[in-house]
This record gives sequence, C-alpha cells and structure tokens, in this order.
Amino acid sequence: MNKVCLITGSARGIGLGIAERFAAAKFQVVISDLRQDDAERTAQEIAKKYNVKTLGMAMDVTNEAAVNSGIARITKEMSKIDVVVNNAGLQIISPFEEFKTEDWKKLVDVHQYGSFFVSRAAMQQMKKNGGGSIIFIGSVHSVEASPKKAAYITAKHALLGMMRAIANEGAEYNVRANLVGPGCVKTELVMKQIPEYAKVLKISEKEVVEKILLDSTVDKQFTTVEDVAEVVFFFATFPTNALTGQSLIVSHGRHMQ
Ligand SMILES: NC(=O)c1ccc[n+]([C@@H]2O[C@H](COP(=O)([O-])OP(=O)(O)OC[C@H]3O[C@@H](n4cnc5c(N)ncnc54)[C@H](O)[C@@H]3O)[C@@H](O)[C@H]2O)c1
Repeated sequence: MNKVCLITGSARGIGLGIAERFAAAKFQVVISDLRQDDAERTAQEIAKKYNVKTLGMAMDVTNEAAVNSGIARITKEMSKIDVVVNNAGLQIISPFEEFKTEDWKKLVDVHQYGSFFVSRAAMQQMKKNGGGSIIFIGSVHSVEASPKKAAYITAKHALLGMMRAIANEGAEYNVRANLVGPGCVKTELVMKQIPEYAKVLKISEKEVVEKILLDSTVDKQFTTVEDVAEVVFFFATFPTNALTGQSLIVSHGRHMQ
C-alpha cells in the first residue's frame, strides 16, 4: 500500500487513534504535532507496531509557513498525500460574557485557520495527484451548543462550512471532504476540562461527567477513540463522490440527526 495519510495533532488522543487505524490498513502515516520529539516518538512506535513507513514532524497548524513547508516535505518524501485529517485542537472553558479575546483567537486560530492552512496546501497537492480526501474532526459542538464553550462551538460550527465549500469545489479534482463529530471521548482535552467545568459551574467533577458530558447520551457512555477512528477511515476510503460534503456525529446518541 503506498497511500499516505497526514493527521494533525496526532501524537496522542483521537489523532493517535486515527493514525493507528490507517496504519493497521497499511497506509503510510504522517504524525504531526506541536513538538518534534512527541511526533517522532509516536511515528516510530507506529512504524514498529504496524510495519509501515511513517514520518513524524513538528507542524503547528497555526503557522502558515510551517504548514506549507510541512506539506511540501511530505509530498517530497512520500510522493503524495491521499488523506488529510484536520484533528489538532484544544478547548478553553469560559462564560461567554467573560471570554478573553486572546483565548477566542487561540481557538479560532487552531481550529479554523489551522484547518484552512492544512486543507489548502493539501488540496493543491491532491489536485496535481488525481484527488484525495480531507476529513475534519468537528464535534457535537459543530451542530449544537453546551455551556461555557462559546469559542469552541463557534469554531467547530465553522468547520462544517469549510468542509462543504471544499466538497463543492474539490469534486472537479476528485477531492472529497467530510466531517466527523465526536461526542465525549476520554482524552487529555476532556480530562482537563472536567475540573475547569466544575469550578466555573460550581458543581462536583462527578456531576460534570453525569449531568453535562454524558447526560443526553442514550446510555451514559463515553465515545471511544476507536469509534471515531473507524468513521474517519470509512469516510476517507469511500471510493466515490456519493459521500462528500457529509457530516456524521459519533456520540452515543447525544446528538441525533
Ligand atoms: N475528546 C473529545 O471528547 C472530543 C470531542 C469532540 C471533538 N474533539 C476534537 O478532537 C480533536 C482531538 O482532540 P483530543 O480529544 O484527542 O485532544 P488532545 O488534547 O488529546 O489532543 C490534541 C492534540 O492536538 C495537538 N495540537 C494542539 N494545538 C496544535 C497546533 N496548533 N498544531 C498542531 N497540533 C496541535 C496537541 O498537541 C495534541 O496532541 C480536536 O479537534 C478536538 O476538538 C474531541
């Protein structure tokens, strides 16, 4: 298999799970994250575990020049990019009326500008190489709101628009775009927000999990990294434009479409 998949923010969490799913299917995978050592270590572990070619590189998705040179490097070293997963992300909890401008900008920078820089550079390569698939990791917050996450909700909603725009323009070049929206997955991003939420809402951490994070799921279960990775893989490897411009929420029924 000489297909190549780049996942942003993939040294840990959901991104790592997605990288493993593609490596298990013998894709060559590019692990990119903020720190070179984290990306390289993860890439080496995946190469050893799945016996596939990997590349680990530092690529801050908010840095336009770093993204452009990173994508150019991947195309040079691995010859092309077939799949890009816009996964890098973070969360900042704050009441809307107290949201700091710098925090709002940080979230928009990573989720919106980061996905824009990566998708634009990848699409240029995909157009030259006969096509590809661009996946956005959105969220239930791409389609609904919950308390104290206004900037994240705004940014994740915007990804739906970007995904649809790429699906619309990309069809001509055989480039597809789809969005996968996880519910609540136990990663550092979520574990960090539980005490922050408890503080802001003045409730216990147990109540945060039961009453906020999992309350409207059908079975009070967390979604897993593997659940999300499987849906990403399905979208990314679907062979025709029958599936482009679509979104799927993976959330134990927290959001029903
Ligand atoms: N965990 C959840 O419940 C959940 C739910 C819905 C959506 N998501 C989304 O899934 C994605 C992955 O989140 P996660 O839960 O695995 O979180 P995580 O914190 O475990 O992982 C996020 C990764 O992104 C990297 N990253 C952050 N900023 C970056 C930047 N500027 N450039 C490159 N890499 C950067 C981090 O270093 C980290 O490795 C995010 O987009 C997040 O919004 C997560």
